[in-house]
Amino acid sequence: AGVSAEPTSRTYDCSSLPKFCFEKARVPKDVSVKKLLTDALHKNQYLKRLELQQIKDMVECMYERSYQEREYVITQGEPGNHLFVLADGKLDVFQHNKRLTSMTVWTAFGELAILYNCTRTASVKAVNKVRTWVLDREVFQNIMRRTAEMRQEQHRNFLRSVSLLANLPEDKLSKMVDCLEVEYYDKGEYVIREGEEGSTFYIIAQGKVKVTQTSDGHKTPRVINTLQKGDYFGEKALISDDVRSANIVADENGVECLVIDRETFDQTVGTFEELQSYLKGYVATLSRDDKKRLERSSSR
Ligand code: CMP
Repeated sequence: AGVSAEPTSRTYDCSSLPKFCFEKARVPKDVSVKKLLTDALHKNQYLKRLELQQIKDMVECMYERSYQEREYVITQGEPGNHLFVLADGKLDVFQHNKRLTSMTVWTAFGELAILYNCTRTASVKAVNKVRTWVLDREVFQNIMRRTAEMRQEQHRNFLRSVSLLANLPEDKLSKMVDCLEVEYYDKGEYVIREGEEGSTFYIIAQGKVKVTQTSDGHKTPRVINTLQKGDYFGEKALISDDVRSANIVADENGVECLVIDRETFDQTVGTFEELQSYLKGYVATLSRDDKKRLERSSSR
């Protein structure tokens, strides 16, 4: 591998700027260029899982950089500070000086070191004069951070709207938001299976699920309830060691559940006893219909 020719960071310093500083890194560009960059990022197998807004922000902040024939754009083994899209010219990819492949225009590369914090897995060298679009690592990280913060804010607001958690003190709710996982299910997928052990609690953030249960004399489980956004299930696992008393099956595509495990719940919200007394207090505030629902769910 030769000398690294990665562009040096531009003049803005994101680390010292407020959280949404990547706005300052926006570089105006033609709509047609934005479309080509967006498609290139979407085509990359590692970048395509990013959210649309993240890709959009990345495209906005990319800037142009040219390389001369035989110049190294990336050097294997070095830290990576930039993500690239090839716009014009030809690039070769080498590993340990062995040529692996060449790259066609509108291909994104250099994503691995940026996404996974590893050193460059290959060298990338200009075969002829090359034009690229570049995204700085700090800007990429700021975009990711901003999305994570926005997501947390959405989760916090949503959890606050869930009746069970409405009176939870702010610090506990924040801890819960920090620790929760998000899971997605498509129609027909099982979130919980009857009879299995489980120690996770779910709140539906989007979509509907069916609650089904096996009963004596019936081979196939019967639908005993449907739950939707704001409803929760799996709460029994938080207060007892019983196995799951019903199946929970996604009733549409893209059901989004916020998932909290027992350990997290203990550490953030409190002990079983605290939870039980909280639930008791909560039940006291419910309307008769709500109480029936809770009784049904806790007798599952
Ligand atoms: P990164 O490791 O950050 O820097 C080198 C880049 O080369 C790497 O990300 C990929 O984008 C690209 N790369 C690595 N291995 C291959 C390969 N076998 N074929 C094509 N591109 C590769």
